[in-house]
Amino acid sequence: MRIDVAFGVGSVTPAETSGRLVVMIDVLRASTSITVALANDARAVIPIETPDDVVMRSKAFERRDVRLAGERRMNRIEGFDLGNSPLEFTREHVEGKTILMTTTNGTPAISTTQGARDVIIGSYVNYTAVLTMLRAALRGGTDIMIVCAGRERQFALEDAGCAGRYVANVTKRITGVELNDAAQSSLLIDRKYGDQFIRLFDASEHGRALREAGFEQDLIACAALDSYPIIPIYQDRQITKLGPDRER
Ligand code: MLT
Repeated sequence: MRIDVAFGVGSVTPAETSGRLVVMIDVLRASTSITVALANDARAVIPIETPDDVVMRSKAFERRDVRLAGERRMNRIEGFDLGNSPLEFTREHVEGKTILMTTTNGTPAISTTQGARDVIIGSYVNYTAVLTMLRAALRGGTDIMIVCAGRERQFALEDAGCAGRYVANVTKRITGVELNDAAQSSLLIDRKYGDQFIRLFDASEHGRALREAGFEQDLIACAALDSYPIIPIYQDRQITKLGPDRER
């Protein structure tokens, strides 16, 4: 049994995700926003590479059925309905809608996960729901890969901290789990910050950049442990909520 962590999507190869349960983490903010959208009953979130492609794809839908969402340099893309703030994905805005979403790091990270057995989206807001699935997978003999989206394809402290929390708790009372070096170092970050997620965010470059750009309320929303206890799952190029109709 193995748990591997990848810091930044650049380091992930299809061979490493093949047959595994993959968790994609972009705590600030794509994972959190996707989770909030689905918890508020968005029909699906479709991750898309570029803003132009979002506009193109939207033409296949009735306008009233879709929301164009995403950011570049943290801010809403011009002409889009929503940015990438979890506070924007309210029931009023997203219920019953398909969200076409492009973000700088989070949505590209999802498409690096080809060949995985399943791909789910992890964050602090749905931490325990995802943890339960990870524990079940590991007990059933499925290896786990945690992909930290990172920032500009590189290491990001907040994603590593969240990954470390998963590694620490998934391996509790399960012996013989092998960890790669990144998984072991993620444990150290989780141990340093513990439940002090805002402290973790304030230590991270992206957390500081969001605060400076006026998104401090987003940091609070992203730190709200287990506030949206759902499991977003990526299948057939879209993310939906794992539930009775999509049990594994
Ligand atoms: C991303 O996907 O790069 C992030 O979610 C950026 C952001 O905070 O908007």
